[in-house]
Amino acid sequence: MNKPIILGMFDSGVGGLTVAHAIRQRMPNINLLYYGDTLHLPYGDKGPETLQAYSRTIGRYLLSRGADLLLIACNSASAYAYDAVRVIDSQKPTLDVIRPVVQHLGNTWPKGTIGVIGTRATIRSNIYTQLLHMQFPQIKVKALATPLLAPFAEEGIEDPQLRSALVAHYLKQPELQEIDALVLACTHYPLLKKEIRAQLPSHTQIVDPAEILALELQNRLPALEGQSHMECLVSEWTPAFAQAAQLMFGENLEVKQHNIHPGT
Ligand code: DGL
Repeated sequence: MNKPIILGMFDSGVGGLTVAHAIRQRMPNINLLYYGDTLHLPYGDKGPETLQAYSRTIGRYLLSRGADLLLIACNSASAYAYDAVRVIDSQKPTLDVIRPVVQHLGNTWPKGTIGVIGTRATIRSNIYTQLLHMQFPQIKVKALATPLLAPFAEEGIEDPQLRSALVAHYLKQPELQEIDALVLACTHYPLLKKEIRAQLPSHTQIVDPAEILALELQNRLPALEGQSHMECLVSEWTPAFAQAAQLMFGENLEVKQHNIHPGT
């Protein structure tokens, strides 16, 4: 039997759970060690140095706990801290939620127009345009920061009218018209996928990084056997996080508070 593989992954909060869920669907035997940095939510309003410092601390912690590979399950951190995390241990692979998506976009719509919605940090970084244009210069990118969506999704607000109104407010902006695909460039946004789908014309496809990352991992890792395990830690226990985690992974998943940040 293969030695169990531990995937260490993190996000500011519940967003990365959408990626964990997609991975679990494809690879039910994977061991996940998840860290939600709820103490520092939202990541989308933080600057590059802050995101690098948080990501480094979490990356080191996950490796110290035996992670065999790391996944930055947050676009804002992927935009600014991919290199900072990658160099912690160059023997252990680091994946992020942007680079595999860029590849998928280029392969699928090499001359298309791609809409990108994300946090202020992700959109300000201009990372999608930069990475896409390095390989696929004919792709056109239309990007819009949608800063209220992540805190809204984190809170787990269920009111259907409120959810639709907020999503509609952003998606009707002129920046997002006439697009072939819309990238949910924040891992919190798949939690609003139903409302996003309802607002888009039928020819516009939704690109969910969670699904692309799950496929990427399945292609990279050997077939796994044995029992799977998921450990879920947060820097600050919140009822919203615990509820979202249990909704997605079942009542047995215990969310534990474990603050690893120095000086907090
Ligand atoms: N889920 C994260 C992202 O993909 C961060 C959202 C936030 O904390 O602002 O960008």
